[in-house]
This record gives sequence, structure tokens and C-alpha cells, in this order.
Amino acid sequence: MTRDDDIETDASVREDARTDGGTSAEGADDVALDPWGSSTISDYRKLFEEFGIEEFDEVLSDVPNPHYLMRRGVIFGHRDYRPVAEAMRDGDPFAVLSGFMPTGDPHIGHKLVFDEIIWHQQQGGDAYGLIADLEAHSARGMTWEEIDKHARDYLLSLLALGFDPEEGELYRQSDNRQLQDLSFELGSKANFSEFEAIYGFDSGTNVSHLQSVVTQMADILYPQLDEPKPTVIPVGPDQDPHVRLARDLAARMRFFKVTEAYASFELTDAERDLVASLYETLDPADFDDDDLRCVHVAQFLDGVTPEELDVVVDAETISSAQTKLNEAGMEPLRPRVRFLDANATDEAFDALVEAIDGEKRRYDEHIDAFDLSFEAADELAREVEVEHGGYGFVAPSSIYHRFMTGLTGGKMSSSIPASHISLLDDPEDGYNKVKSATTGGRETAEKQRELGGEADKCPVYELYAYLLSGDDDEFAKEVYDECVGGERLCGGCKEQAAELMRAFLEDHQEKREEMEELLDDLDISTDSQRRGVAPSDD
Ligand code: TRP
Ligand code: SF4
Repeated sequence: MTRDDDIETDASVREDARTDGGTSAEGADDVALDPWGSSTISDYRKLFEEFGIEEFDEVLSDVPNPHYLMRRGVIFGHRDYRPVAEAMRDGDPFAVLSGFMPTGDPHIGHKLVFDEIIWHQQQGGDAYGLIADLEAHSARGMTWEEIDKHARDYLLSLLALGFDPEEGELYRQSDNRQLQDLSFELGSKANFSEFEAIYGFDSGTNVSHLQSVVTQMADILYPQLDEPKPTVIPVGPDQDPHVRLARDLAARMRFFKVTEAYASFELTDAERDLVASLYETLDPADFDDDDLRCVHVAQFLDGVTPEELDVVVDAETISSAQTKLNEAGMEPLRPRVRFLDANATDEAFDALVEAIDGEKRRYDEHIDAFDLSFEAADELAREVEVEHGGYGFVAPSSIYHRFMTGLTGGKMSSSIPASHISLLDDPEDGYNKVKSATTGGRETAEKQRELGGEADKCPVYELYAYLLSGDDDEFAKEVYDECVGGERLCGGCKEQAAELMRAFLEDHQEKREEMEELLDDLDISTDSQRRGVAPSDD
């Protein structure tokens, strides 16, 4: 385990490091997050607005010693990454996991994910890499022979790039019994109509494909089987539907739901915000009383319009809250945390009541505690759950990287060899592919000197930023500045990139060979000898 104490999160340094201009490649169409489609993403902003993915920049300063893919904006988005960054900073347990469908050769796009797993492992995380063979067979119709061959290639590259198999775990979906048990449990909290809504499944979808989805849900939560912990799933944004469903299922498996409350009855989130702000501002003396009571707040709300209040609230919420408060009459308004019974056994419910310190009140379906913070309550609920046979899952987090532009322009696609560089490409082929790549250059050298190149639209520049510069921000910035400043011409620039690519491939493939023996000694089979036929799908 290594931890670099040299924390450099100064905003100006980050700005300098970001040389991609924060823009994405052109020529793509609408946003559609489809894990099995061929989605291209034209506008990363839409992912924030329409899908609620958060901008990575907002957490960057919380990350100790951020990876260059983070510094350069290649990792552009996340869901709930803060708990992972905090655990990293505080030396608390956390995990990283991602999976690979063995449908073809591993290429430089997969390298981003390999690097993300390895980096989190080096920061002290429990690391997992899995081969999604069930998915490859059921959703992509790969034969087991093909799957075995590709599985081996993915694993060798992951090891060659620095994954430590002694500290981390590698597995195949198909031979992980614990994973299958977990997937069976999770499946009991998901239903088909959700799959229709999320993935567009219909009556013609083969059942094994459904099973591969619950298996992925289990993958995502698998690192928490030992103990609940923040877990990050590094993936492309096309996998976000899976992440959202896994977060939902993790919550549905919990014994207790912890919320904040102000009285014995339930409030909606909007009503609670309203009541919370009134609890802060109203003075019981104004109602000739020592305590603030529900009926006082109801009285205050009489005839009040949304504009007159400090919180953003609509008239309907005011009126529904008022009704509830009136019904509760003289009950004092008091902040508390509430444990709602979601899946708890009777024993767990009793044990929780027992474990709560300070003033508490027990109801049929919930328990109110008056002397606990929300955080302490959340932790306690998890502890009791785990002690009584529950999983106590922490909602999994994710980070999203940009898709690389193809070397021929458009999308980088496994089915167009010239568009991507496979980690297995002959180094000479790799050199040649870079040499014949499209660029963001101008029609003539004169124009290029005059106007500068368009590095933000250049697949060759992407190679520098995503891979060829490694950790060297200075170098990436130099290429960028020289390009847009007109000092760099595409011929020489491509030659330099092509040579670096050739050297990278030579080195990587040498390391892969060195890993062959290690892989054979590991507890993961690349000779499954499974039998089967191609799946059917409408
Ligand atoms: N569905 C992923 C893909 O298409 C592979 C995958 C399976 C995965 N299980 C996972 C990715 C868990 C991340 C986490 O490539
Ligand atoms: Fe791309 Fe390099 Fe040409 Fe700039 S000089 S457009 S980075 S190939």
C-alpha cells in the first residue's frame, strides 16, 4: 500500500493540468445511456442535467493525490464519490471494483479502467477486477471458447499494468458461488417492470440476460460482503443505469431507513424542509407557551403564502403540512432521528431499541431517538443490521470517464480496427495507426502556424492526454500549448506520438508475457470447459 502525502489540489495547478479544454469530441448524436447499445455522447453536460451525474471537478479537491485522469478532466463525472475520497484520506476501508465483458481484445479504452482500479488499489483500497462472462454469453452471444481466450487477455493486461493479485481479487462471474448467492438475494428486490423501464427489456428478452443484470448488481455490491464500506465503480457513463439500480437495490436491502422527523407523524421531504425551517425561526413565547407545539406552527401557517417564507415551498405543501400539524394539536415539535422498519426481523428491531442511547420512543413500525445525530443513527442502524444477519450496504459510488475518440474520427470501436489501438496490436501496427490518424490540424502548414491546431478536436492529442503523457502534466500541457500556438505541426507531432505508442506497446507486451506464469498460479480459470449454445433474443 502506498499513500502519497504530497497533496496537491491547488485550483490553478488543476486548471493548468486540464489541457483538453473540457470539451468532448464532435460528431456524435443524442445522449442515451444504454449499456448494450453503441451510445456515443455528444454533450457531457446533458449527463449532469438529465441523469444527475455530478461533476468530478466538485470533488477533486477532496481527493488526496488525484490521478492524472482526474486532473485532466478525463474522469469527468461521479455519483457520490465523496465517501470514497474521505475514506482514502482518513485511511479507512474502501473498495474499487470494475468488470470487463470479454467480447474482444482489450484496447486503450479499457486501459483507462485498468488504471483506475490499480490507482485506487495503490491508494489503499480493496481492489476487484472481474470477467463478465455471463453477460458476454447471454447479452452478446459469445461462445465459451471465445470468452476464455479474451478473459485471459484482459487479465494479463490488468496484471501487466500493475494490479496486485495478492492484495486484490480477480474473479469470473460464472464461478463465484458467493456472488451468485448475492445475486439471487438482490433479484428478490427487483422486478421485471423496472428492467423494462431502465433497460428497455421486453417480452422477447432472454431470461439469462435478466440474470446477467442481477449478477452485475451483485458484482457492484460484492466488495461489501466482508463488511460494509464505500466502494467506487469506475466505468464509462453508459454503465450509469446499472449503477443507479445497484444504489437502489442496496437501499432496498437495508433493515432500517433512517430519516429526520419533528413529531410522531410522517412528513414528506418537502413538508419536512418547511417544518424544519419554522422550528428554527418560531419562538414559543409568541404563542404564550414554553414549548413550540404542532398547533402553533399550524396557526402560523394560516394564510401564509410561499413568497413570505424563507424556504422554497409550494402552496400545496403548506396546506398539507398545516393539516397534519393541526391534527397533532398540542404535541410538542421536537427534532429527532427516526428509524423506519424496512426489512428488520423482530430481534433486530428489539436490539436496535436496546442499543439506542438517551431518550427514545418505540412505535409499531418505527423508533424515534432524541439524543442521536443523523450520522450516529445511521452508523448504529448499520451495526445492528450486520449483527443480525443483514448486509448493511453502503450505497455504491461511481466515477465516469470520457470515451476516447476513434483514431479515424467518430467513435472508437472494437469492430473498426483502425479506429482503436488494441493492447495486443503489434507495436509496428500501433505506430502506423497513429501515423495515419485524423488530427485537429489545418489544411496547410502555413495556416497551422497562423491559426494553431485544434487540439480539443484532435484524437492524437487525446492519446497524449489519456495515455502517452502518463503522469507528466507538464508534457501534456506543452503539446497542447505548442499545438494551439501554431508551433507544433501535425507530421512531427504524430511521429512523436507514434513512437511513444510503439514503445508503450512493446513494454506492455513484454510485461504481459512476464505475467503468464503468475496468472496460471492464480485462483481464476481461463479454461472453463463450459458447454452451451448461443442465446436467443428477439
Ligand atoms: N456491464 C459491463 C460492461 O458492459 C461489465 C460489468 C459487469 C461491470 N459487472 C460489472 C462493470 C460491475 C462494472 C461493475 O462492460
Ligand atoms: Fe493534433 Fe498534434 Fe496536429 Fe495539434 S499538432 S492538431 S495535437 S496532431
